[in-house]
Amino acid sequence: MATAAMRMRRSLALCYHLTAALLLLAFLHAPLAGAQPLPWQLCDSAAGNYTEGSAYQANIRALAGGLPRNASASPALFAKGAAGAAPDAVYALALCRGDTNASSCAACVAAAFRNAQQLCAFNRHATMFDDPCILRYSGQDFLANVTDNSGRFVAFNGNNVSAGAAAAAFDAASGRLVNATADYAAGDPTRRFGTGEEGYDATYPKIYSLAQCTPDMEAADCRSCLRDIIEKFTPQYFVGKPGGRVFGVRCNFRFETYSFFSGRPLLQLPDVLPPAPAPAPAAAEEGEFLKQKTNKK
Ligand SMILES: *[C@@H]1O[C@H](CO)[C@@H](O)[C@H](O)[C@H]1NC(C)=O
Ligand SMILES: *[C@@H]1O[C@H](CO)[C@@H](O)[C@H](O)[C@H]1NC(C)=O
Ligand SMILES: *[C@@H]1O[C@H](CO)[C@@H](O)[C@H](O)[C@H]1NC(C)=O
Ligand SMILES: *[C@@H]1O[C@H](CO)[C@@H](O)[C@H](O)[C@H]1NC(C)=O
Ligand SMILES: *[C@@H]1O[C@H](CO)[C@@H](O)[C@H](O)[C@H]1NC(C)=O
Ligand SMILES: *[C@@H]1O[C@H](CO)[C@@H](O)[C@H](O)[C@H]1NC(C)=O
Repeated sequence: MATAAMRMRRSLALCYHLTAALLLLAFLHAPLAGAQPLPWQLCDSAAGNYTEGSAYQANIRALAGGLPRNASASPALFAKGAAGAAPDAVYALALCRGDTNASSCAACVAAAFRNAQQLCAFNRHATMFDDPCILRYSGQDFLANVTDNSGRFVAFNGNNVSAGAAAAAFDAASGRLVNATADYAAGDPTRRFGTGEEGYDATYPKIYSLAQCTPDMEAADCRSCLRDIIEKFTPQYFVGKPGGRVFGVRCNFRFETYSFFSGRPLLQLPDVLPPAPAPAPAAAEEGEFLKQKTNKK
């Protein structure tokens, strides 16, 4: 997995800051200074524990045996499933990134099951976020509610674009791309997946972005899921940042100033042109401007 290792090193070099936004879970992680390599797990021991050799454990293993293949075989690289009966029923969802191939998808979901059972050992509820895939299993039927995107991770590039107006211009450009990519993803009827690219300036020649929802969501629900995490986390974490991402089980997005997805971008925005120098105002216009101003008083 040379590419994953490269991505990891890149994240380390960029000094990613990671914060867990556990809005439904009862606790909140403080932002962690410095990088933490993927995968990122959300464990929930408050949701209860299972024991070695239990029916619950057998049901997790049954899902681990089938879901990687089911996700990788589906056109949208998505699978959900349930195993067992109450009170030991386990529900699970796996989503691979839209630009992942079938073999990487299956390998990622299988690894996510293994990692979850180690990193969230004996927790009935666990979520794993990795670059190529997302996995959650739980004793609660969270599959029924496609708009429940609770339990999220936010990470941002610790560098700053630059001070003042330049940062605001960058934020406007990246925000435009992120929003357009979210529109694209919601409008994709089979995969709910979008990638985008926008030319920017000499320092950041291009901005790249990606957005995805689970493909069992309606277009409007997908767009509103993305709008929610964009609105909630952009002002809080991504102001003046050259990269950031929000992971949720139902929708996720990411933007960077380097290429991080495979294949050509599905959406190409026109380059952002450097602001044209303001033309020297003519005397008449100046007069009109002043007149307008005085009239308003
Ligand atoms: C699950 O186990 C952890 C420690 O392994 C413990 O802290 C937690 O309270 C347990 N949860 C429940 C609901 O019993
Ligand atoms: C995988 O898909 C098959 C065929 O649809 C289904 O019978 C099986 O239950 C699925 N496995 C899981 C773990 O959901
Ligand atoms: C699938 O993707 C991985 C990682 O990008 C790559 O190493 C592998 O060669 C690809 N496999 C196929 C069959 O395209
Ligand atoms: C689904 O989850 C969302 C978010 O947690 C919640 O607002 C909504 O009421 C839930 N819908 C149902 C039908 O439970
Ligand atoms: C970016 O700006 C923040 C807030 O002003 C500051 O705390 C942080 O150290 C800066 N990061 C870098 C890498 O300069
Ligand atoms: C992107 O959309 C959000 C609402 O979803 C809005 O608050 C923000 O201003 C938009 N950004 C740009 C640059 O259009």
